[in-house]
Amino acid sequence: MRDTYEDLRKEFERRGQGHVFKFWGGLGDSEKSALAADLREVDLDELERLCETLVFPKEKPPVCDFSKLVPAPYKPLPADKNSDPEWERARKAGAEALRAGRVAAFVVAGGQGTRLGLDAPKGIFEISPVKRKPLFQIFAEKLLDAKRVYGVEIPWMIMTSHLNDSDTRKFFEERGFFGLNPDSVYFLKQGRMPAVTEGGKLILRSKNSLSMVPDGHGGCLRAMSRSGALAALKKRGVDIISYFQVDNPLVNIIDPHFVGFHILGGSQMSSKMIKKAYPLEKVGHFCVYEGSLCVVEYSDLPKEYQELRNPDGSIKFDAGSVAIHLIDLDFADRLGGYSDFSLPFHRANKKVAFADENGNPATPAEPNAIKFEMFVFDALKMARNPLVIEGKRSQEFSAVKNASGVDSPATCVRDQKIYFAEWLEKVGVRLERGADGAPKIDLEISPLFASNEEEFVRRWNSLNPKPDIKTSPFYLGV
Ligand code: UD1
Repeated sequence: MRDTYEDLRKEFERRGQGHVFKFWGGLGDSEKSALAADLREVDLDELERLCETLVFPKEKPPVCDFSKLVPAPYKPLPADKNSDPEWERARKAGAEALRAGRVAAFVVAGGQGTRLGLDAPKGIFEISPVKRKPLFQIFAEKLLDAKRVYGVEIPWMIMTSHLNDSDTRKFFEERGFFGLNPDSVYFLKQGRMPAVTEGGKLILRSKNSLSMVPDGHGGCLRAMSRSGALAALKKRGVDIISYFQVDNPLVNIIDPHFVGFHILGGSQMSSKMIKKAYPLEKVGHFCVYEGSLCVVEYSDLPKEYQELRNPDGSIKFDAGSVAIHLIDLDFADRLGGYSDFSLPFHRANKKVAFADENGNPATPAEPNAIKFEMFVFDALKMARNPLVIEGKRSQEFSAVKNASGVDSPATCVRDQKIYFAEWLEKVGVRLERGADGAPKIDLEISPLFASNEEEFVRRWNSLNPKPDIKTSPFYLGV
């Protein structure tokens, strides 16, 4: 019973969490009600179970018996997709499903741009090489292009978190939804989990609030279900969700080959892989463990396994996860339904703001808390016929995560220029490249002109006269 403040206090005291009432006596009415709302959000049974398995054990339980882990099989990219009968069959099936309006897009965007020096939703980070378009705009324009190609509006779900929900919505409103129909954009806020200390105690963030953190990208399944977005999409005839991360502007959101393989393979969840660029690249690894497809994070897979080689010298665990999946709507709905059929939580150590002894806000220098999060790729283990297909790195993946070095704005801008240069080279335009492999001129092609290579070739061939691409910067718009 949590109806009255007294009920709440008794319940939290009984569970050893009574310290959250430390400042209660000095709180005003609205402050009391704010703290009570946070406390009512905490599922103490779930929390106790998580502390039991993830907090109290002295040693982190091993992820698995690594000696039983084998690399996951995947459908390799043929030399030329267009002349490969199997890929062509898949493309046709995928295009048909797209024209029938069976596919919706879904971006997980609950994270902030903090690591990039942006105290705002990561999706508003400006990243395109010439126009400095924000990530959200790039994705919106890709969906507008897909509408032109397939003749249907592709609905788009955007997962936010309590950290950035209102800023994200405001950004879309200010920018006129980048030309999308607002009725086809669904914002859904992911859930939160309380952070705890090493002793499993809840942490006060201030005198009248708890330290709560987003529940991981796997929280998207609960969020999609709970928000009603899945029910609304089902009504529109959608049965497949195209999932991607907000940090990858190269993502081919609407990929008919991928959709086709997913459908023809009778898969409930399919994933894209790219070959790892080097053994210790910080990506998840597609593996098979005791007969089930899974992703093992770079942080969990021992270095010696990441570095294993095949007899021909190639990397043994080479299938890197780019966090691009297709998920059947019904499967997602079932997983999001708070039953036994749900994703497990993982533990991570984190710095969270807290209230000091006097209730004043404080920020730790070192990780001071344990957070619990779900990973969407854990759903692969539970899916029927999960399938992995290969994507081409230069055409599918360049993440922007860090302010400098690997996966930074500099590498992502370079990779976008290479991505566009490959399209132009396909139609015979020669561009001088620098030592980093990128064309020397600044180059950008709007997704409103084309959002993938095949579409680009088609549109370019219909242009007369062709634009002159000598001067920098070069921007090709609608
Ligand atoms: C992730 C994957 C890794 C993959 C890599 C590719 C995990 C644990 N690892 O790593 O397997 O190879 O991307 O780039 O996922 N997000 C939310 N809510 C949350 C947490 C995350 O929406 O509660 C979103 C972020 O906004 C981002 C994405 O999920 O779009 C990835 O999260 P992040 O924590 O940055 O994962 P990585 O460690 O980069």
